[in-house]
Amino acid sequence: DTGALTLIVIALLGYLLGSIPFGVLVTRFMGLGDLRKIGSGNIGATNVLRTGNKAAAFATLILDGGKGAVAVLLARALTGHEDAAQIAGLGAFLGHLFPVWLGFRGGKGVATFLGTLLALAWPVGIATCLTWLVTALVGRISSLAALVAAVLAVAWAALLGHGQAIYLIVILATLVYYRHLPNIERLKAGTEPRIGGGK
Ligand code: G3P
Repeated sequence: DTGALTLIVIALLGYLLGSIPFGVLVTRFMGLGDLRKIGSGNIGATNVLRTGNKAAAFATLILDGGKGAVAVLLARALTGHEDAAQIAGLGAFLGHLFPVWLGFRGGKGVATFLGTLLALAWPVGIATCLTWLVTALVGRISSLAALVAAVLAVAWAALLGHGQAIYLIVILATLVYYRHLPNIERLKAGTEPRIGGGK
């Protein structure tokens, strides 16, 4: 196992990487405005899409997912240990949700969750990405796809033999749920906007 000090340093580095708010940066640098004043005000790719710029949304998805994956892969390469890889992924995810640069008011963690999973246990990551995609294609609602994918990620980890990652995945999935409480209210009220539906 990795030493406690090393784990703390790795968690902090993961946090710093995860706290880079790519949605806000991409939107600003592409001259699309202040993301926090657009749509839901969230800093993720779904909200970037509400600017109407698909390339910006795609870039945000890849960068927010990528930072979770890079944190995990770097920690694994540096230490050779899975506990370090998991701590780095947790750090990156928490960085996205609670970035120091935005007064700790960050995103909902869906892209970073997916990227972290892909690097931690790629079969679970792919199954969860496909779950998101299929739910999004059928339901046309990003938050609904995220909620379904978060729950099923736990099941995929159990079914695909990645039980060692299941505690972390439960924590991440719970936080994804917690961050979607306003979305859940809108889903219940039937007012949650559809993907590409503007607003
Ligand atoms: O990735 C976040 C998504 O599930 C919901 O985003 O902007 O519709 O609240 P938003």
